[in-house]
Amino acid sequence: MTRSAPASTELLAIAVDVAREAADTAYRMRAEGVSVAATKTTVTDVVTAADRAVERQVLDTLAKLRPDDAVLGEEYGAGEGAGSGVRWIVDPIDGTVNYLYGIPYCAVSLAAEVDGDMVAGVVRNLYTGEEWTATAGGGAWRDGRRLRCSTETDLGQTLVATGFGYDAARRAHQARVVAELIPQVRDIRRQGAASLDLCLAAEGRVDAYYEKGLAAWDLAAGGLVAAEAGLRVGGLEGRPAGPDLVIAAPPALFAPLHDRLAALDASGGP
Ligand code: IPD
Repeated sequence: MTRSAPASTELLAIAVDVAREAADTAYRMRAEGVSVAATKTTVTDVVTAADRAVERQVLDTLAKLRPDDAVLGEEYGAGEGAGSGVRWIVDPIDGTVNYLYGIPYCAVSLAAEVDGDMVAGVVRNLYTGEEWTATAGGGAWRDGRRLRCSTETDLGQTLVATGFGYDAARRAHQARVVAELIPQVRDIRRQGAASLDLCLAAEGRVDAYYEKGLAAWDLAAGGLVAAEAGLRVGGLEGRPAGPDLVIAAPPALFAPLHDRLAALDASGGP
């Protein structure tokens, strides 16, 4: 660990304060009215003024509190640090389309890595105030309650959350995978914010989650919360979870879900 890196609990305390302020700003801006400021990868991949304002607020606060740290954010990309070994990963509003439509399933996601290892993360639903936290080795928590994932072992009884990318050709492939998977599981949920889907899995409000095409900021904090709640979080064939595929499943369900997804070429397509 880098000499100047603080304890994960200290980084989490900063993350929680920053995420709460960010969630307040996002909530207030939503109440004042929201509109599309720009589109990104496709015309349906929108960015609102709030996405930018909230990330700017997070960057400014972190720069004051931890000036030597690096930051990676969804809207402003990567900022170089000065060698502290700490990198923050922020999604200012995960679930931007829900935010645009006023669906109360969107979150601020903020995680801290030290020397490339994820050590602390917080996901806060900016509508409900539900807040999930985790530190590496310190468990996953919500409202003072330690979280454990589902104990389901039968893929046929599994409630599986997933999401879709913004690119039409990718969605078509993802839809074909879901069409094949849905008769083999209890049901599918597509709720619209990957970080929150991972947190729901952390407390067994869904059994498992998978998605192709996640960015680092979608996965960082929620992935740590899920792993600390006992889910196995990984990719295909022993690879780490990443843009190709993220699977988060209770240990007994990981192999059966992995094998179904591999057979359906869930990491394939555009
Ligand atoms: C998106 C959401 C969505 C997931 C997409 C993400 P954004 O993030 O997490 O649930 O299916 O893959 O891109 O664009 O709302 O920050």
